[in-house]
Amino acid sequence: MDKIEPNDEHATSGSIVAENVAALRALFPEAFGEGGIKFDVLKQLLGGPLDDGEERYGLSWHGKKRARQIALTPSLGTLRPCPDESVDWETTNNIVIEGDNLEVLKLLRKSYAGKVKLIYIDPPYNTGKDFVYPDDFADGVGNYLRITGQVGDDGGKITSNTESSGRFHTNWLNMMYPRLKVAKELLSEDGAIFISIDDTEIRDLKAVCDEVFGESNFVVPVIWQKRVTPENRRAFSVEHDYVLCYARSAEVFGETRRLLPLTDEARDRYRNPDKDPRGDWLSVPAIAQGGHGTKSQFYQLLTPDGRLLDPPPGCCWRYNQERMTREIADNRIWFGASGGGVPRIKKFLDETRQGITPSTLWFAEEVGANEDAKKEVSRLLDGAVVFDNPKPTGLLRRMQDITTEAGTKDIILDFFAGSGTAGHAVMAQNAADNGTRRYICVQLPEPLDPENKDQKPAADFCDKLGKPRTIAELTKERLRRAGKKIKAENKLFRGDTGFRVFKLDSSNLKPWDPRPDDLPNAVTDWIENIRPGRTEQDLLYELLLKLGLDLCVPVEVRTIAGKAVYNIGAGTLIVCLDKSITRADAEPLGLGLVQWAKQLAPAGGTQFVFRDSAFADDVAKTNLDAILRQNLPDDALAAVRSL
Ligand SMILES: C[S@@+](CC[C@H](N)C(=O)[O-])C[C@H]1O[C@@H](n2cnc3c(N)ncnc32)[C@H](O)[C@@H]1O
Repeated sequence: MDKIEPNDEHATSGSIVAENVAALRALFPEAFGEGGIKFDVLKQLLGGPLDDGEERYGLSWHGKKRARQIALTPSLGTLRPCPDESVDWETTNNIVIEGDNLEVLKLLRKSYAGKVKLIYIDPPYNTGKDFVYPDDFADGVGNYLRITGQVGDDGGKITSNTESSGRFHTNWLNMMYPRLKVAKELLSEDGAIFISIDDTEIRDLKAVCDEVFGESNFVVPVIWQKRVTPENRRAFSVEHDYVLCYARSAEVFGETRRLLPLTDEARDRYRNPDKDPRGDWLSVPAIAQGGHGTKSQFYQLLTPDGRLLDPPPGCCWRYNQERMTREIADNRIWFGASGGGVPRIKKFLDETRQGITPSTLWFAEEVGANEDAKKEVSRLLDGAVVFDNPKPTGLLRRMQDITTEAGTKDIILDFFAGSGTAGHAVMAQNAADNGTRRYICVQLPEPLDPENKDQKPAADFCDKLGKPRTIAELTKERLRRAGKKIKAENKLFRGDTGFRVFKLDSSNLKPWDPRPDDLPNAVTDWIENIRPGRTEQDLLYELLLKLGLDLCVPVEVRTIAGKAVYNIGAGTLIVCLDKSITRADAEPLGLGLVQWAKQLAPAGGTQFVFRDSAFADDVAKTNLDAILRQNLPDDALAAVRSL
């Protein structure tokens, strides 16, 4: 029986460096030798001398190396389930995670890498008043518990990143860079990330995203009209924010992105002046920019009334001559009512994908403004104005329209969740189109200070709820109430308005603490290698993360030989975390497990996991292991492990 040790691959969020090296080795085996990577060979394989960095174009800042290293360091934390704070724990596929998002993203990597369709983030804009999370390289989870006041004695007081700090942009970049790097891993092949930002950090954000996602995967900068009433205070009234969009692969995104639903107004633009039997159509010019055309698009076009037309200066025809002739013969080119005009291509309503190509201008009247968002949130929270700048659900729904499908289990992730707008928008969208999209929202339990006038309404609201004074409490409460409201307003909607709550904490597995001056006790402590106070549920969900399973995978419990046994993912994983397995237990337990595994018969076999300290002695452990191996065929047994 293999034991999962705290430092091995199964006990951490996975070694990103090791995975990178393995990918490189698969591509360039000749660049690896006894001493590891042969960097000079690798350079050569990548196309000769690369530039040496000194004068390279790109973004550089103090701490960049460290920030990169922080992204590569595995998390030693875990996510502890909190069914009591959740809604519809048993059935929901949505997740709210309380914690620092970098640690959380690292922990989600194994389960969700390549699976997230849409990431939306609205990070602190770094206005000088924002709290910008200071990462700690050596002790990510300990740092988190201290910053949020869960350990230590500073009461969770957090300070903002001020312009006078001397490291204003640097601090922000150091915070953003590792998060974006890990987030990229979660995006699916056809996924995209949208990031809200304003003028303060647009330059650095664009530069850092170009580096992380690749310049060629930059899709567009969206301009979102965030206010409709002019601002009075500045030389210009700033009425927009940016939303930068990057794709995991711009090419795939271009092929798969969806059109926006056709509005009545857009529908009205289709007419049928020539009574075409194919129905209503609208027309677009039959020309394209000359610079983008091929040679075959430059020719003299013969019109049905016998004219020879050159494309206008700087342009070419949209189709080559052969295709154009075909389209004219099929009455798909419109030369105006008189037939003597310039050619235009007819686009039939019945043949379009029935949608509109999204524009880069998102107007408040279409997607909502900041003011609308404030009202959306405060209406749900008994009129309390607890967020300064939440985003409207319409803004998120526009992104979902472009990137997600109703009938899929597309995952939408927001790891700066704030008031939980992204989760609310997913539920609203699903209710509108009977969809099954899922969301994951991550929010820091950022302490709210009742002495701070800006934070007082939010702190008071938490007091009223009898909850700790943190932003994460507001996120959860908004989502609870939004789910109820959506259900009440859409009586026929049977979809998911629940969510599972998880909280970031130190791993359930104790690290080995050598204590040379107290070796006997150190060894005894280590034998029970599970941290005190941790439940079977805690261990179970840590296991899911370590083994890369979905946190909402169905879990079934049975009692076998008097012990609780969990079947996860229809037999993929069978877990018994009982604290005691004696020699006498081994046979009834082993045979019961065999029977259940045979019934479930998952493709790829079953993996069994036990609590290592549960075994009364080596004989109990060996017997149980042998019973499983002897009674299950090889292809039905994926592994037997202890924890
Ligand atoms: C601008 S707000 C997001 C607002 C959100 N879009 C909405 O509509 O309500 C940014 C949020 O990120 C949270 N945050 C900042 N640093 C974080 C971190 N390291 N991990 C998780 N959340 C963080 C802040 O507490 C804040 O609530």
